[in-house]
Amino acid sequence: MGPVAAIHVFIFALLISISGAVISSEVGINYGQLGNNLPSPSRSVELIKSLKAKRVKIYDANPDILKSLKNTDIQVSIMVPNALIPNISKSQYFSDQWVKTNVVPYYSDVKIRYLLVGNEILTNPDTGTWFNLVPAMRRIKISLTRHNIRKIKVGTPSAINVLESSFPPSNGTFRSDISGTVIKPMLQFLNRTKSFFFIDFYPFFAWSENAHNISLDYALFNAQNVTYTDPGTNLTYTNLFDQMFDAVVFAMKRLGYPGIRVFIAETGWPNGGDFEQFGANIYNSATYNRNVVKKLATIPVIGTPAQPGVVIPAFIFSLYNENQKPGPGTERQFGLYYPNGTEVLEIDLSGKTPLSGYKKPLPLPTNNEPYKGKLWCIVAKEANRSAVKDALAWACSQGNTTCDKIQPGKGCYKPVSLFWHASYAFSSYWAEFKKIGGVCSFNGLATTTVKDPSFGQCKFPSVTP
Ligand SMILES: *[C@@H]1O[C@H](CO)[C@@H](O)[C@H](O)[C@H]1NC(C)=O
Ligand SMILES: *[C@@H]1O[C@H](CO)[C@@H](O)[C@H](O)[C@H]1NC(C)=O
Ligand SMILES: *[C@@H]1O[C@H](CO)[C@@H](O)[C@H](O)[C@H]1NC(C)=O
Ligand SMILES: *[C@@H]1O[C@H](CO)[C@@H](O)[C@H](O)[C@H]1NC(C)=O
Ligand SMILES: *[C@@H]1O[C@H](CO)[C@@H](O)[C@H](O)[C@H]1NC(C)=O
Ligand SMILES: *[C@@H]1O[C@H](CO)[C@@H](O)[C@H](O)[C@H]1NC(C)=O
Ligand SMILES: *[C@@H]1O[C@H](CO)[C@@H](O)[C@H](O)[C@H]1NC(C)=O
Ligand SMILES: *[C@@H]1O[C@H](CO)[C@@H](O)[C@H](O)[C@H]1NC(C)=O
Ligand SMILES: *[C@@H]1O[C@H](CO)[C@@H](O)[C@H](O)[C@H]1NC(C)=O
Repeated sequence: MGPVAAIHVFIFALLISISGAVISSEVGINYGQLGNNLPSPSRSVELIKSLKAKRVKIYDANPDILKSLKNTDIQVSIMVPNALIPNISKSQYFSDQWVKTNVVPYYSDVKIRYLLVGNEILTNPDTGTWFNLVPAMRRIKISLTRHNIRKIKVGTPSAINVLESSFPPSNGTFRSDISGTVIKPMLQFLNRTKSFFFIDFYPFFAWSENAHNISLDYALFNAQNVTYTDPGTNLTYTNLFDQMFDAVVFAMKRLGYPGIRVFIAETGWPNGGDFEQFGANIYNSATYNRNVVKKLATIPVIGTPAQPGVVIPAFIFSLYNENQKPGPGTERQFGLYYPNGTEVLEIDLSGKTPLSGYKKPLPLPTNNEPYKGKLWCIVAKEANRSAVKDALAWACSQGNTTCDKIQPGKGCYKPVSLFWHASYAFSSYWAEFKKIGGVCSFNGLATTTVKDPSFGQCKFPSVTP
């Protein structure tokens, strides 16, 4: 090799090492697939491109999606399913096989850059898996190295409830049940491998649980006047996003890891929800998502009060409204697109469109205040009958008197129909258990209504939000 060529190689290597160290601020998109009516992977990739997203995160390693992403410029985050974590944690062979099957065949044509081990494992009630998590992450990293794959960062997304305190931000603290046993070894791994702490976070939920105390504008990045100064640091906050982000930063610092970068694995704002879920609407969803993109994509980089100038990589949740997600109505309405491919709201994830550049009018919000009337919980349209039967039995087993009125001879026994019995049981359960966290959801089999379903002798218990 002559000296000129050698210099070229040297410069090339230098460029690679620089670009490898710098993380760009382009905002990506989560591509969840919990819907039975979603467009094909190839159509989805077109929609991702029309959002101008440069990154996509999927919740598995779906071969059809990976094939559709071949030879695109989109960086990809794939995921090891939760159920495989125990085996992977115990067996290097199992880990190697997973990487061999799900990463190696695609790596040369698909820009896989992140490999997330499980999803919100530390919120999963199966506490046994918590302790398998970091060992599984280590094994996956070893498997990648064995295949000489060095561009993929290994991490795991956590829900915000890995923190037991997030206010004031400087008081950010990991939960004591995981702090020493799981989080500390995880941070050590992330620090050693120069990976990220991946966090899912939603100012919407923080705001809605505390709306009497936090202004909606503060949650939507629109507050002109409202600031909060953290007494522990004297740092001044102008929005809830920064507050929540810095709580994570301070929690890591408390455990001795001030330098690990944070990657927002999910953030977003629902475009709709149940009646009692105020603030969930298209207007706020567009406002939040556009403002997040503006904040994160602005050059020079803004960062947060605790980390000014630090790039915050992020994935917006989500590509589609997903009709098979369990939980309250908001869960199924986070999409930037409806399942038919029509956009819910106009957005450019590259950040190149200024806020004034969005021309299509947004429907004005009508539910920014808590709903004041009574609500009932009834069986949802098209709910699976055999699943409703199971949910009816479960609801009735929760309280000693929850289902008294639908017993033979009682006021709500007739008509003897699954719909009416289950709707009664759902309303009765919700009215009894809401104060201790019961919700009207039943894995998506139930929905709230403002129309009193009571008839004749049969009075359905109601809830006032
Ligand atoms: C885990 O490994 C055991 C033993 O090899 C096997 O029987 C089981 O099916 C595996 N579990 C999963 C989820 O692959
Ligand atoms: C700080 O966090 C601890 C728990 O980690 C909590 O007990 C305490 O109330 C928090 N302080 C404030 C001011 O919220
Ligand atoms: C984290 O990584 C940095 C850079 O590699 C290193 O200097 C530091 O000592 C590590 N921190 C801990 C607590 O291990
Ligand atoms: C909000 O809640 C915090 C903690 O409960 C309290 O200290 C603070 O005074 C409240 N702020 C307002 C504006 O009510
Ligand atoms: C700022 O606060 C003042 C006084 O509280 C109020 O009159 C004004 O409308 C606020 N401005 C905005 C943009 O919220
Ligand atoms: C915050 O500012 C006040 C007033 O300037 C000062 O007394 C206090 O020591 C500062 N606190 C911190 C943590 O810097
Ligand atoms: C797509 O679905 C949305 C929501 O259901 C609906 O409002 C819209 O009209 C549909 N668009 C087309 C082209 O069918
Ligand atoms: C309906 O629910 C039952 C479980 O209760 C499940 O086994 C079945 O697959 C479901 N059917 C459909 C079409 O989803
Ligand atoms: C049901 O009754 C038992 C025995 O009387 C009592 O211990 C239990 O707390 C009751 N449960 C509820 C949910 O009311």
